[in-house]
Amino acid sequence: MFDHSKIEKNSILMLIGILIVVSIGGLVEIAPLFYLESTIEKVKGVRPYTPLELAGRNIYIREGCYNCHSQMVRPFRDEVERYGHYSLAAESMYDHPFQWGSKRTGPDLARVGAKYSDEWHKTHLIDPRALVPESVMPGYPFLAETTLRYKDIEDHLIANKMVGVPYDDDMIAAARADLEAQVDPDSDGVEGLQARYPGAQARNFDAQPGLPTEMDALIAYLQVLGTMVDFKAYKAEDNYR
Ligand code: HEC
Repeated sequence: MFDHSKIEKNSILMLIGILIVVSIGGLVEIAPLFYLESTIEKVKGVRPYTPLELAGRNIYIREGCYNCHSQMVRPFRDEVERYGHYSLAAESMYDHPFQWGSKRTGPDLARVGAKYSDEWHKTHLIDPRALVPESVMPGYPFLAETTLRYKDIEDHLIANKMVGVPYDDDMIAAARADLEAQVDPDSDGVEGLQARYPGAQARNFDAQPGLPTEMDALIAYLQVLGTMVDFKAYKAEDNYR
């Protein structure tokens, strides 16, 4: 018969035994992950950002909005009642880097899209205290006065493609035209934009005539957050409402 006391009295044998047992557990859990292409379940409606939204996202990162705002609704009753359906992994699958954040000086923004009008966002971004007197958010009045720099927007799409966002050659070739079409709802380019990015909204986001501004891009980005998935379709299996 096997004498267990031998192992218990010899620390090296015990160590080897522990390593063997623990690595079996590790292998069973980790090895299958290497054979999966993705661990994120695809969800209908989630699409890559349009060039304008992507430019807005870059401004969001440049200005450090993530220092005060998270973009992830956790599956807890208080959060779901305040912000809406908890975030799905797929909703940030095209975010490189993701903007989940770790600090909420201001509210979570994962579902802020379509919550306010474009005009509300513009007024709020220029001077938050004009709308929320007790706000500690800084104003960003220069966004409305700064013409968006987008001559290299194709490169941003290409960089995102390299890390797995499915931008195709057609999207990359049309990037500048799509960006311009999205702020000009009457242009012929809107049809092409919406064929490439289903559900993309084309509007003059900052309500100013002329070239697209940084304000246009940032508002376009804020207005798409949390709006890609139709959560009415998920109601039936939703345990949190
Ligand atoms: C110093 C922290 C801070 C920074 C930086 C900051 N915010 Fe805020 N934000 C707040 C606070 C606090 C509020 C809540 C009061 C208010 O509405 O102004 C808020 C509110 C908001 C709201 C309204 C959310 C809602 O659901 O009512 C939006 C949208 C927003 N911020 C966007 C931004 C964007 C975009 C940036 C970057 C350009 C930014 N914030 C930077 C603190 C900040």
